Amino acid sequence: MIDSASQSAAHQVDLLDLRVVAIEVALGWGIRMKRWMTFTILTGALLMTTLAPLGATPDATPAPAATKKTFGKTPGGQPVDLYVLTNKNGAEASITNFGGALVTLKMPDRNGKLADLILGFDNVDGYVADKSYFGALVGRYGNRIGHAQFVLDGKTYTLAKNNGENTLHGGIKGFNKALWTAKILPAKGGQSLELGYVSKDGEEGFPGNLKVTVIYTLTDANALKIEYSATTDKKTVVNLTNHAYFNLAGQGSGDILGHLLTIQADQFTPVDSGLIPTGELRDVMGTPFDFRKPTAIGARIDQADEQLKLGGGYDHNFVLRMTMDHGESLAARVVEPTSGRVMEVWTTEPGIQFYTGNFLDGKTVGKGGATYPKRNAFCLETQHFPDSPNQSKFPSVVLNPGETYHTVTTYKFSVEK
Ligand code: GLA
Repeated sequence: MIDSASQSAAHQVDLLDLRVVAIEVALGWGIRMKRWMTFTILTGALLMTTLAPLGATPDATPAPAATKKTFGKTPGGQPVDLYVLTNKNGAEASITNFGGALVTLKMPDRNGKLADLILGFDNVDGYVADKSYFGALVGRYGNRIGHAQFVLDGKTYTLAKNNGENTLHGGIKGFNKALWTAKILPAKGGQSLELGYVSKDGEEGFPGNLKVTVIYTLTDANALKIEYSATTDKKTVVNLTNHAYFNLAGQGSGDILGHLLTIQADQFTPVDSGLIPTGELRDVMGTPFDFRKPTAIGARIDQADEQLKLGGGYDHNFVLRMTMDHGESLAARVVEPTSGRVMEVWTTEPGIQFYTGNFLDGKTVGKGGATYPKRNAFCLETQHFPDSPNQSKFPSVVLNPGETYHTVTTYKFSVEK
């Protein structure tokens, strides 16, 4: 409430202000105007001399976007590109539009020395011939579907068999063998590349035209973020992932058995001889699958364990705790003691496939002439559980028309002293 005394005081102050202004106008206006004009001219001149040589305007210069170079041709003669994303620390991620594969991922060690941490090839020919899914975008259904079939609304869909009786990673021609459209996005919190692919109704046996978008972003905080989106015009199943093979000491530098791994999982999904989940969620406690505390990957890998024998090592889906911090949960953390490199995997997905490169045989010649023997890399594929279309107790992988599939996975890199 304003009383009358303070109202009249305010009024007096107003009058006083007016008088001050009137005097200033009479005496000081000319002087202040002159000062203001001098200031404006000097600032303008200064801006013109500093910015003119740069060809810039006073507006902020846009951050540099990703760059593109040629990566060869498909067997059908279509040109394929390599997109290079960099950040202020010199870290680099490069991606080809063939299979949407992550081709290089260079990150510093504890002394700032960069190394390429993923397995792959120097040009597209390697990716055309590849059977290991090096760095690839995997779909329409990452991992296995038992007996290459599933039922949706009473209708049985029969898929391409490419792994014994089962379908693996989308079938004979999965998304890893498709040529994706590519668009460099304006840099915003990092350099980004958007990839697109339309998987036709009936492709490899899956129903519905599926429109897929994947955005790779390399941030200045040394994180590689992958965002997957998809829509369909018929009820279908979707499970997209990336199949990068990591070696935090550098690709081609030897086995990964000394890397220390933590997985935020109390359970995993045991498998049968075809690596199809039995449906059981088994506690990791008391098994070689207990990675709740940092443990060397090689510490128990050769134990006489039925599940390790079936996988030829680790090749299993873990049931993540899903704590959901800022939308994603910490799924796994890997430390490579000699370089000090640390990788954290954050995701919106409920599962992660931990695979220790058991099928690598050393015959493949990769980047810079490197060879990749068994267990020279590991994969941490964020995903829904394998064979979910046939397992009613697993989280659903069904996508309906009108819905948008959207998942995010981020690989965050740092160092330990
Ligand atoms: C996945 C599977 C493995 C293997 C690799 C590709 O990780 O789980 O069994 O097929 O892909 O070689």
